[in-house]
Amino acid sequence: MGKFIVSAFLCEQRKELPVPSADISDKSILVVGANVGLGFEASVHLAQLRPKRLLVTARNVTKCQQTIAGKDVQQRASISAIDARPLELGSFASVAQFVNRVEEEDFQVNAIIANAGIHTTRYTKTVDGWETTLQVNYLSTALLSILMLPHLIESSTPQSASRLVIVSSDLHYLANKLTGVDQWPSILEKLNDPDYCTSSVMSDRYNLSKLLEVMFVRELSSRLSAPTPVAVSAVNPGFCHSRLARSQTNPFMRLGVATLKTLLARTTEMGSRTLVHPAVEPGEMSRHGCYLSCYEPKEESDYTISTEGREVSRRLWLETIDVLSRVDSRVQRIVDEHLRAR
Ligand SMILES: NC(=O)c1ccc[n+]([C@@H]2O[C@H](COP(=O)([O-])OP(=O)(O)OC[C@H]3O[C@@H](n4cnc5c(N)ncnc54)[C@H](OP(=O)(O)O)[C@@H]3O)[C@@H](O)[C@H]2O)c1
Repeated sequence: MGKFIVSAFLCEQRKELPVPSADISDKSILVVGANVGLGFEASVHLAQLRPKRLLVTARNVTKCQQTIAGKDVQQRASISAIDARPLELGSFASVAQFVNRVEEEDFQVNAIIANAGIHTTRYTKTVDGWETTLQVNYLSTALLSILMLPHLIESSTPQSASRLVIVSSDLHYLANKLTGVDQWPSILEKLNDPDYCTSSVMSDRYNLSKLLEVMFVRELSSRLSAPTPVAVSAVNPGFCHSRLARSQTNPFMRLGVATLKTLLARTTEMGSRTLVHPAVEPGEMSRHGCYLSCYEPKEESDYTISTEGREVSRRLWLETIDVLSRVDSRVQRIVDEHLRAR
């Protein structure tokens, strides 16, 4: 059943997951948002598996140099085949520049872990005019995924499909239904509208952004050819000890989150295993198009699989491609060349 069930959540939180151990000596992997938290710990796991190349991103050059390429990941994994590049998801130009640089360097990517994300209830806009959570967690993640798709396809072999792992959350189960969505001329414009984004709407924004990611995975995966050259999945890392909620200013909420973390949270290292597993372990075809929790496919939220949810998902895909095509002309070409119409 596609619901948030407290007993299942508690059970998963306590589950000890095996450490990923695949041979990735001939694989090149990209981790987005790797300076702290789950992305950092996933990078350490990957580095310890000694990939051909590990490319990690942080928001700016300083964070890249100091936190990633400098001391942490390299010291803990004691290898040097790690590169760091700046990538700011609050800017479409930064995503395009990142992809341009990857292309100039001819980086042959086998797996991408799209991990970067924010959790905030404040309405702010990015330089591109989109509500920040909507752009960082959804639109820019979608742009990066589509621009990198040809590279993932190129690296794929019949024995091993490339992987695209988008880090979602079980909080997508708790996202509110989009009441009245059938009357909205544009879903994305409505979600961006400051008049619509009241404090109660914004209190759900993170959950909704994670639902949008699940829908994106479903739409993208269903448009790839069969057998797929790229195994696409959404993962739930579980509730972890990271600083994701650092922008929370309400002292009661902060106390509540801190208490829940003390009682329930997984270590960030344990949560990070859920990101690494679908990116490197065999069996990728059985995970294609799936929402994964504790390494296993799990049903998405009831809303996602409802008639309304499917229609929202389909419209959202079309709108997303439309918005992103206006941002970067490569998007429509990639969609036309590599994805099937539905
Ligand atoms: N922790 C949990 O309990 C939990 C549960 C379910 C899902 N998740 C998901 O797991 C992912 C990682 O979260 P986390 O818990 O590791 O949180 P975190 O410690 O706050 O890490 C988030 C990462 O995303 C980066 N980031 C944020 N905004 C960005 C932007 N505009 N452009 C580029 N990078 C940006 C951060 O960079 P800076 O350090 O520069 O901000 C950081 O590297 C997120 O997608 C989150 O939704 C987490």
